[in-house]
Amino acid sequence: MEKHVLLSPPDLSGNELSYVEQALQDNWIAPVGPHIDAFEEEFAAQVGSSHAVAVSSGTAGLHLALLAAGVSAGDVVFCSDFTFAASVNPILYQQAIPVLIDSDQTTWNLSADLLEEAFKKESKKPKAVIVAHIYGQVAELTRIKKLCDEYGAVLIEDACESLGSTYHGKHSGTIGDIGVYSFNGNKIITTSGGGMIVTNKAHLAKKMRYWSAQAKTPAPYYLHEEVGYNYRLSNILAGIGRAQLKTLASKVEKRRANFERYHEAFLENEKIQIMPMDLPGVRSNRWLTVVKIKQPAKVMEALAAKRIESRLNWNPMHRQPFLKTATFYKANEIAVSDQLFANGLCLPSGSNLTKEEQDYVIQQVKLLCDSKENE
Ligand SMILES: Cc1ncc(COP(=O)(O)O)c(C=O)c1O
Repeated sequence: MEKHVLLSPPDLSGNELSYVEQALQDNWIAPVGPHIDAFEEEFAAQVGSSHAVAVSSGTAGLHLALLAAGVSAGDVVFCSDFTFAASVNPILYQQAIPVLIDSDQTTWNLSADLLEEAFKKESKKPKAVIVAHIYGQVAELTRIKKLCDEYGAVLIEDACESLGSTYHGKHSGTIGDIGVYSFNGNKIITTSGGGMIVTNKAHLAKKMRYWSAQAKTPAPYYLHEEVGYNYRLSNILAGIGRAQLKTLASKVEKRRANFERYHEAFLENEKIQIMPMDLPGVRSNRWLTVVKIKQPAKVMEALAAKRIESRLNWNPMHRQPFLKTATFYKANEIAVSDQLFANGLCLPSGSNLTKEEQDYVIQQVKLLCDSKENE
């Protein structure tokens, strides 16, 4: 294939330019402006949350969520182990102590059983729990939320990968106390870089918006009573976000259709196992489709030679040198996150992936997995 088949490239709706042009014409080239306000309102309405705060990245959003949860130096925060480092970094920005929790086999996300064990065993209880919904699959939120409520921990959903996924009819990110989404270039909708925080608590939204714009106290001169951050999304990028948001529903359908096609294509192949199907009540956005195979690194390299981009699964947090002293809860000798890392390969899953491109990917993956060299 001539064209490079990418993992999850941006998918423009065609209307982005008119929003950007409007911002330029009106001279709103700032981290304030009408697109930001409108993007926040439209986003909150779309996911069914009372408040939304637009920020410069998902990481910035998670940092502000921890601040809103009152997390400071020496506090404990429980966090998913099978995730991207950006879920955990903000805990360290606050000089707090991350405790890592392994995944379960059915959701690939933070295990409610292990969370319960950690709540019981840890003498210092956590101020917050960060649960990441990886590849669009949603964690077992009913139990997780119940446990957080019981132990008085703020539940932060890292929904950076799961915008558009629903859990018993509610959007992922809106079930805990605070939810955070990412609009990074590879996400289901993108502003090139950006993020959104949602919450139903007005006072938390107000506080996070205030911190995101340098914590300015209204006064005729510059007055700052607290440390602030330069985390606000720009008005131009919010314009791109508005255009992208309008196509979210169709992007979810396209990614779900990709998943279905992969699922059907690999059904009969015993060497290729697809990620779990949706659990009852869950509807994943299928941000990335993942297969479990014997030699993912070798297959990834061979696919690259065929102009197909794929990625290994997240390398779990307990394996990261910067977290080597963190406590890690797992149920068995070999952690679920380790198995997922050892066998998982993310396949091209963009909402603009053509049928022809996907057929080519399927053909190459089958060829490589059936080959003796990759056993
Ligand atoms: C699970 C997860 N958390 C957090 C982030 C951070 O988002 P951002 O890149 O917008 O800072 C990402 C993606 O990049 C992610 O995949």
